[in-house]
Amino acid sequence: MRLSQILFSQGFGTRRLCAGLIQHGEVSVQGEVVDDPDADFSPEGLVFEVGGKTWPYYEKALILLHKPAGYECSQKPKHHPSVMSLLPAPLRERNVQPVGRLDEDTTGLLLLTDDGALIHKLTSPKHHVPKVYEARCKHPVTAEQVAQLLAGVELREPDPKPHHKPEFTRAEAAEATGEQLLRLTLTEGKYHQVKRMVAAVGNRVEALHRPSFGALALPADLAPGAWTWVASPALIWSQA
Ligand code: URA
Repeated sequence: MRLSQILFSQGFGTRRLCAGLIQHGEVSVQGEVVDDPDADFSPEGLVFEVGGKTWPYYEKALILLHKPAGYECSQKPKHHPSVMSLLPAPLRERNVQPVGRLDEDTTGLLLLTDDGALIHKLTSPKHHVPKVYEARCKHPVTAEQVAQLLAGVELREPDPKPHHKPEFTRAEAAEATGEQLLRLTLTEGKYHQVKRMVAAVGNRVEALHRPSFGALALPADLAPGAWTWVASPALIWSQA
């Protein structure tokens, strides 16, 4: 594959801009500047540098972001900046999208990808990818609340329509990890699900964090707002 085509596929701008970057000596492969846009490389496993920054080639981008509070997952945020503003331009140019959503005030592991089929697979209720949430609650977490969350609760709308069908959901796992701390594992992704489930059992979420998504855990050394590549979607299903 031509080097200019490789850069284009990775979000470095129009074909012309990519050729220009190469001709201006901004691009290196294995430590050597390559100034020929037509130079041929096998893209799989290729690592190159643009303007001194290292980029691995991925046909599809899969990104793990440590979402800080104060960012919205929406493309058109209303009150806070978008999580997209935490990513470098080539990833935004590739149009990576969040896999599901975390609320503006929720922190933790957020995946983003430009692989539409993967987004569909991970957000479809059929696939049951477990997601772990840690909630700090307003009131002490009781054994009865934990039992109710495991048995299943009705998620109420704040303002239900007359023919509204109630939504029932249950936690795959639930435990109190401190007096006001609750750890829940959910396999669905309903709107405000944790907050609504906790409200349904008479408590209230004051802070929410997601430490894991499937088999992927938030790396301890990844600061809020920082991101890293996930080498393969297979890692979501197994750490093998
Ligand atoms: N459940 C919520 O209530 N909020 C989130 O951000 C994620 C799950």
